[in-house]
Amino acid sequence: MDLRKAAVEVRERAYAPYSKFKVGAAVRGASGAVYVGCNVENAAYPEGTCAEAGAVAAMVAAGETRIAEAYVVAEGAKPVSPCGGCRQKLSEFGSGDMRVTMATTAGAEQVSTLADLLPGAFGPGQLED
Ligand code: THU
Repeated sequence: MDLRKAAVEVRERAYAPYSKFKVGAAVRGASGAVYVGCNVENAAYPEGTCAEAGAVAAMVAAGETRIAEAYVVAEGAKPVSPCGGCRQKLSEFGSGDMRVTMATTAGAEQVSTLADLLPGAFGPGQLED
């Protein structure tokens, strides 16, 4: 399945009445299956969740724990940049060379890697040191 198409589609279902900033995320698991998520805001603002968090949760709920690739899309002049917390969430399940594509609904894309987005990431290995 096309990651961009999945992310663009799920973005339409984002619940963002407060920020009005709808975000869609799609991750491809190691199996090849695609999982999607959108941001879900809340009147108690800090309880809102990001699109990436939803996609990661859907992947784990389906029984997968490795992300091969991720795609995030929002409306704006520049491709949406995943927040710091979402970079960490992706990092739990993806390797440094994992491709992360940031995009606009208009079609602009910026491709990066997780290592470039989150250098010096804290990971499970450090809990064992
Ligand atoms: N948001 C995401 O869903 N993902 C990101 O990577 C950046 C921000 C959401 C959170 C909030 O609902 C809205 O965008 C504005 O910050």
